[in-house]
Amino acid sequence: MIRHLAIIMDGNGRWAQQRGLSRSEGHRAGAQRISDITEAAAQLGIEYLTLYAFSTENWKRPIAEVTFLMNLIPEFCRNKLPDMMKNGVRLRTVGRTDDLPAASKAALLDAVEKTRDNRKITLNLALSYGGRAEIVDAVNRILREEKKPEKITEETFARYLYAPDIPDPDLMIRTSGEMRLSNFLLWELSYAELFVSDLHWPDFDAAALKEAVSAYETRDRRFGKVK
Ligand code: FPP
Repeated sequence: MIRHLAIIMDGNGRWAQQRGLSRSEGHRAGAQRISDITEAAAQLGIEYLTLYAFSTENWKRPIAEVTFLMNLIPEFCRNKLPDMMKNGVRLRTVGRTDDLPAASKAALLDAVEKTRDNRKITLNLALSYGGRAEIVDAVNRILREEKKPEKITEETFARYLYAPDIPDPDLMIRTSGEMRLSNFLLWELSYAELFVSDLHWPDFDAAALKEAVSAYETRDRRFGKVK
């Protein structure tokens, strides 16, 4: 049973390059896949879907690409809102979203607010997200807010992460073949099963998702214990 699925949506650039398209067109095709995969995940009974849409490191990409991705956010929120309402998708975000341009932030806030009572699946977009940044942000909040910071436990610490109410991912899929975490959900992925697909993200479809979920179902999760 997968309650929470996390995905590194890699390979938009390579997908575009193979077709003689610009990287931006790859990102646009990638954004289009999000609805289908959210729908397919909901059909499989998955409650939370976290997608790595923009990392803290992605700010260092060429300005034109960053601008394109930032403009894609309000476009995505506006175009997909009717489907999200129809399909019971609750939108959330994790990351340093204060760093996003005002128009992207406003569109996200609006969509998050309008979808807050939807219950079928939570689509959690990681934006300006870094696993180390999340841990450092948690530490800084603890220093500000905890009365006895010397008494920190794992449970207390986890309450200061960006989405403390969302269970840790059971499965993390990375598309486009590379076997690395790239600073994604470093704390939360501690016991996740990993699945790497060779497909580029714009080609990752419901059938590919089912294949990953089937592979997950054959895994023996022991959480460090002996069965
Ligand atoms: C990695 O592929 C992908 C990204 C850095 C961006 C992911 C974003 C999307 C799928 C669109 C999300 C949009 C919204 C509005 C939520 P890459 O460009 O690094 O691919 P490459 O490794 O082949 O170059």
